[in-house]
Amino acid sequence: MKKKSNLHPTIFVIFGGTGDLNKRKLAPALYNLFTEGYMPEKFSIIGTGRTEFTDKKYQEVILENVNEFSRNGKVKKETWSSFESNIRYCPTDITTPKTFENLKETVEKLQQEFGKETQIIYYLAVAPNFFPLIAECLCKYKLTEDEDNSRIVIEKPFGNDLESAKELNLLLSKIFTEKQIYRIDHYLGKETVQNMMAFRFANSLFEPLWNRNYIEHIQISVTEQLGVGDRGGYYEGAGALRDMIQNHLLQLLCLVGMEAPISFDADEIRDRKVEVLRAMRPFKPEEISSNAVRGQYSKGWVEGKEVPGYRHETGVDPHSNTETFAAVKFFIDNWRWQGIPFYLRTGKRMNQTSSIITIQFKDVPHHIFSSRATETWQQNRLIISIQPEMSIRLQVQAKRPGVKMVLNPVDMVFDYKGTYDTDTPEAYETLLLDAMNGDQTLFMRGDQVEAAWELVMPIINTWESKKSLNFPNYQADSWGPEDAEALIAKDGFHWFTLPLKDK
Ligand code: BG6
Repeated sequence: MKKKSNLHPTIFVIFGGTGDLNKRKLAPALYNLFTEGYMPEKFSIIGTGRTEFTDKKYQEVILENVNEFSRNGKVKKETWSSFESNIRYCPTDITTPKTFENLKETVEKLQQEFGKETQIIYYLAVAPNFFPLIAECLCKYKLTEDEDNSRIVIEKPFGNDLESAKELNLLLSKIFTEKQIYRIDHYLGKETVQNMMAFRFANSLFEPLWNRNYIEHIQISVTEQLGVGDRGGYYEGAGALRDMIQNHLLQLLCLVGMEAPISFDADEIRDRKVEVLRAMRPFKPEEISSNAVRGQYSKGWVEGKEVPGYRHETGVDPHSNTETFAAVKFFIDNWRWQGIPFYLRTGKRMNQTSSIITIQFKDVPHHIFSSRATETWQQNRLIISIQPEMSIRLQVQAKRPGVKMVLNPVDMVFDYKGTYDTDTPEAYETLLLDAMNGDQTLFMRGDQVEAAWELVMPIINTWESKKSLNFPNYQADSWGPEDAEALIAKDGFHWFTLPLKDK
């Protein structure tokens, strides 16, 4: 164990304790925090669910999960045995509020044992239709009355549209103070995403260039090779716009576009981000076809295996109108960014899994080199690669060695792997620790979520009211629909990819 945490005793109640998120992310994250010495000295993890488990059986289940999904591989015996003694299970059927009585009893017993300063974190890793019910039960059974020491963590999706997000915010605000609410967007916990703030605001080099005078356009591209897998049921009611753009991609855009905060305080950062969303140009229905493109994958071959088209995935309507790809061109109407396009794209079953932000700078004002010297000419680009490669590259022109003046683009690279020999924590490790520390910087505030919904609603409404006539319109393992190329090509640009094959 490396560190000794000075956190107050903590009780973690996980609704959805037998679910997929806990299995793949939360349990491994809590265990890794424990092995690194970040967990409080006194803590308890209470898994809840409808299944009847004894504590012992539940501990065995969690052990299997951690062994399978932890970034550190299988657990170490001694560490595990001191960790598992903190795990409990409390059968709770959300639809039968009476079962909250057991939970209350367990929580109160632990509180007495741990002392007055014990903090309780309720993590809602369940389907979103249960969020209101759980919040109401927590209130009814007086489980969150201590404002300073109780918190609720809410997974995405936060609402399914603007109206439902507002309703949920309203309901939560009647039970909790904003200080108690932690709305998760796991992208914000990613190491490279956090580094964007360090990169922008801990270096004096970039800020003078970070505006419309030097930047030509910005691309945020999050592509995945995977299809919807067994999440077809959920995805049918979501689509790429709701699933990725409304939250993850717009959060990335905010980090690129925000003004410099005066401090690293949670609300200061979140104020600056919400300002970006409010400055974004809203779409009129008639502008959507020229600024947004949707796509849906058909069958194809991925790494030698035939994969089904979206309409043939489990839980998906064979005539589905749900988009598995979306590309949108946004503008931020303020002094810094006026007239600079932000192109966002995301899709499933794409040719590559990669999340990159590319900032393309304007060309030099005057070319002094001959055309022979500049055959591979490329404007400066800053490429922030979030995953799988974790790097920041600044692409500049340099003279190729030799007797002639010939230029070509080269990369100045900051690569995590080559620079640090420590492992990178998973996003959930960072976010769970922040929740325990009461730090909301990397969590979404209610107004932020609503502003993001407000922005995408006109596109959602238009796409839902007008069925796409050409779905499926891109093949699995491709770069998405042709219209997405046209969206950016008509402005004279093209989508950048890594490895950097493009010129
Ligand atoms: C989730 C979406 O929020 O993010 C998924 O619901 C998506 O559809 C996932 O696959 C991508 O996250 P990551 O961390 O794998 O890039």
